[in-house]
Amino acid sequence: AAETRFEAENAVLSRGVVESNHAGFTGTGFVNYDNASGSYVEFTITNDTAQAVPLSFRYANGTTTNRPLDVAVNGTSAGTINFAGTGAWTSWRAQTISVQLPQGTSKIRASATTSNGGPNLDSLTVGATTGTDWSVA
Ligand code: GCU
Repeated sequence: AAETRFEAENAVLSRGVVESNHAGFTGTGFVNYDNASGSYVEFTITNDTAQAVPLSFRYANGTTTNRPLDVAVNGTSAGTINFAGTGAWTSWRAQTISVQLPQGTSKIRASATTSNGGPNLDSLTVGATTGTDWSVA
């Protein structure tokens, strides 16, 4: 698939729980990060060609405080994304970062960098490059 969505509720979690009490998510729910620095959601993706790809994280943040996430690919930080308030826990938006992915399987880990934890995370969309195939390992 040229562009593929990975649901956060199917990813590996550390200090986070799957919930569904705020409408507007895709799939069966979203991840509520614990309010702790270092809490994370980790996606496993298999990529057929080494290339730069956009990673788009869909989230809600019902507070007025930014909840940044560090995005690491196979243990190396690719940068930090800001997740500003969306106005309500039922208002969802996306933020995108471009990363270099190697061929094969990669772990994409989105870790909270402040004691507020992350935003509520709905999904990660990877893409789009013609001819690229993604799958969850
Ligand atoms: C509220 C909200 C949660 C959210 C939490 C937070 O409890 O209902 O969905 O994750 O605030 O501030 O992280």
